[in-house]
Amino acid sequence: MKLAVIGTGYVGLVSGTCFAEMGNTVICVDNNPDKLEKLNKRIVPIYEPGLEILFQRNIDKKRLSFTSDLRRAVEESEIIFLCLPTPQGEDGSADLKYVFGVAEEIGKILQSLPNNEFKIIVNKSTVPVGTSTAVRQIIEKYNIENFEVVSNPEFLREGFAVDDFMKPDRIVVGARNPKAFEKMRILYEPFVRQGNPIFEMDPESAEVTKYASNSYLAMRITFMNELANFCEKAGANVEMVRKAMGSDSRIGKRFLFPGIGYGGSCFPKDVNALIKTSEEFGSPMKILKVVDEVNKNQKQLLVKKVKEHFNGNIEGKKFAVWGLSFKPNTDDMREAPSIVIINQLLDSNAKVVAYDPAAMENARFYLGDKPEYAQDQYSALPDADALLILTEWNEFRNPDFDKIKSLLKNKLIFDGRNIFDPAKMKELGFTYYSIGRKP
Ligand code: UGA
Repeated sequence: MKLAVIGTGYVGLVSGTCFAEMGNTVICVDNNPDKLEKLNKRIVPIYEPGLEILFQRNIDKKRLSFTSDLRRAVEESEIIFLCLPTPQGEDGSADLKYVFGVAEEIGKILQSLPNNEFKIIVNKSTVPVGTSTAVRQIIEKYNIENFEVVSNPEFLREGFAVDDFMKPDRIVVGARNPKAFEKMRILYEPFVRQGNPIFEMDPESAEVTKYASNSYLAMRITFMNELANFCEKAGANVEMVRKAMGSDSRIGKRFLFPGIGYGGSCFPKDVNALIKTSEEFGSPMKILKVVDEVNKNQKQLLVKKVKEHFNGNIEGKKFAVWGLSFKPNTDDMREAPSIVIINQLLDSNAKVVAYDPAAMENARFYLGDKPEYAQDQYSALPDADALLILTEWNEFRNPDFDKIKSLLKNKLIFDGRNIFDPAKMKELGFTYYSIGRKP
């Protein structure tokens, strides 16, 4: 099939590349000249395991190309995917200016095309309920009839994006036109050969499904974070509780890990957007207000523990930080707990030396040069009063503890991700604080 993908962010670039890998011809469109230059020089502008090899292969096979020419992309494609940012507006709602702006342009282009071929415009961006209808109305203004607007939310996770896209748990297609359902089925069937479902529904239900999934997962993590704080006070071990709870097949093992709050470009924004739309429709989801509030507090937890340990005064102390990205296997710093934590340490006149395997360049954008950045995990440690672990990268899981002991000033670790066993840490002579477990 001939496809256009508008917007080459995480979702757009991964979707475009993976569709090409499945034999489709994909034109990706972006209006950012710097990004386009990189892409046309065959540089993948994001850190995403497994993407590079597919990207290069499909450019070689001439199935994947990049342009700023929206008109050509729309003219040559049967299906046009909108993978545009929907950032959080000032009032918490999703800002749809990019989606609506491109819809206007597509309307104008379709109006000026000589033939009247059926086109499918697909919303892959995370958009509030009603957006498909709004996009349809924008395009209809240009007297176009032979088209359908489809809602097809994307569920890929950063760090596992290629795998999630190539083998999705499910595909959700929201539309009204049978011809559109059929085309989308043909496109996606190769991705669900193992038997995972393609759910066909109305666009409103598809739009809600995306927000509901992300908000539910954010709520689940938040439940575990509050439970962890309670366990710590009550003398219970949240890791034991987590494993025993997760073994109930109704609960399941995944997404139960307590930590220092969820971050990233999706959960915080989507929880707030659903709060907002549910209020607008007169059916407020009160539970999500609490989720957002608890999550903000959870990001403050680690520095509270640090301050308690040092009797409230950390001025002049030096802290080594391992992990900056909002989660492992990505260089993404958006809404990362590390931003809140490092700023709190710096505001209390402490020094910070940080290391991250992938996110240090992006970290500079959020944190500037106020923290020092170390070349590797061990060179962050010399003379530090404590080590803080903020992201559970695999390379931190089995470190050289003797080396850590010899480099740190105090044998003191604050672990925001529970990557070590408290009993082992005690045996090794560390004072070890974690989440939901007694020191
Ligand atoms: C999330 C969803 O998982 C994807 O399905 C969705 O497509 C994506 O948002 C999106 O809307 O685009 P992502 O933001 O890449 O994906 O990251 P997750 O792996 O979901 O992690 C989100 C946050 O939750 C991270 O800060 C992570 O550290 C935290 N988390 C996750 C926990 O604290 N505990 C857990 O058990 C799992």
